[in-house]
Amino acid sequence: MQRLLAEGSALLGAVPLCARLDAEVLLAHVLGRPRSALIAHAEQCVDAAAVARYRMLLVRRAGGEPIAYLIGEREFWSLMLAVSPAVLIPRPETEQVVERTLALLPERPRADDEIRVADLGTGSGAIALALSCERPLWKLTATDQSAAALQLARGNAARARLDRIEFLEGDWFAPLGARRFHAIVSNPPYVAGGNVAMRTLRFEPAAALSPGPCGLEALHHLIALARRHLETGGWLVLEHGADQAVEVAAALVAAGYARVRCHRDLAGHDRVTEAQWED
Ligand SMILES: C[S@@+](CC[C@H](N)C(=O)[O-])C[C@H]1O[C@@H](n2cnc3c(N)ncnc32)[C@H](O)[C@@H]1O
Repeated sequence: MQRLLAEGSALLGAVPLCARLDAEVLLAHVLGRPRSALIAHAEQCVDAAAVARYRMLLVRRAGGEPIAYLIGEREFWSLMLAVSPAVLIPRPETEQVVERTLALLPERPRADDEIRVADLGTGSGAIALALSCERPLWKLTATDQSAAALQLARGNAARARLDRIEFLEGDWFAPLGARRFHAIVSNPPYVAGGNVAMRTLRFEPAAALSPGPCGLEALHHLIALARRHLETGGWLVLEHGADQAVEVAAALVAAGYARVRCHRDLAGHDRVTEAQWED
């Protein structure tokens, strides 16, 4: 095993610590064992078929393919989610959308009401599943225009035994009819089409990353239409690019939202903006 890990680290090269970690994650995945087992059983032999699978994954990793796609999963909010090239790989900064939504709404509904939250552009289901996990009494609606993404999200919900999430296919608000929610949350595509970042993100679905040439198209659409689907006092919580906070806040104010507030991620970037709709 040590020889295989050294071979993997050398092939993945440029960043030695990441190379070693990636090699360990890939070998552990191929062997179906935890990474710790590689250290505990360092002298154990690996059969030829597993070595061939491992080497194939190393080559794909060296070509830039994200590790999450190679092993088919990524952790988000302590939930292990299946991912495929049909969905964006959930990012740690998106956990702030979850944190803010939990902070803004009451845990329990009043009397005979229910708390309804919509996650638009759910992808792997990351935000909806995290919210449902923390607030089992809330009714979650998760939408996406991608049937493949929804299939994956449904599977993730089933594996996590979260059965209070409804999945609907369609363009942003289209599948919601006239329904209203206590919060609408979204991590929409927000990278400008021509941005160089699109090249480094080339393995992820373009429709999950970029809404068009300017990058703000989906955010503007969500801001304009969400108010028709929010209860009085309901919240819109949006993730956006670090350089889009000013435009997002201005659009929210212009559309008549109150209590517009932006939050920084751990790296100090303005990444999540919330606003309240008061009819
Ligand atoms: C940035 S990804 C976010 C995925 C997931 N919510 C997360 O945070 O990991 C954006 C998602 O929006 C979906 N999407 C893009 N355009 C859409 C549209 N017009 N209507 C509905 N969903 C859309 C994409 O398919 C993708 O799953």
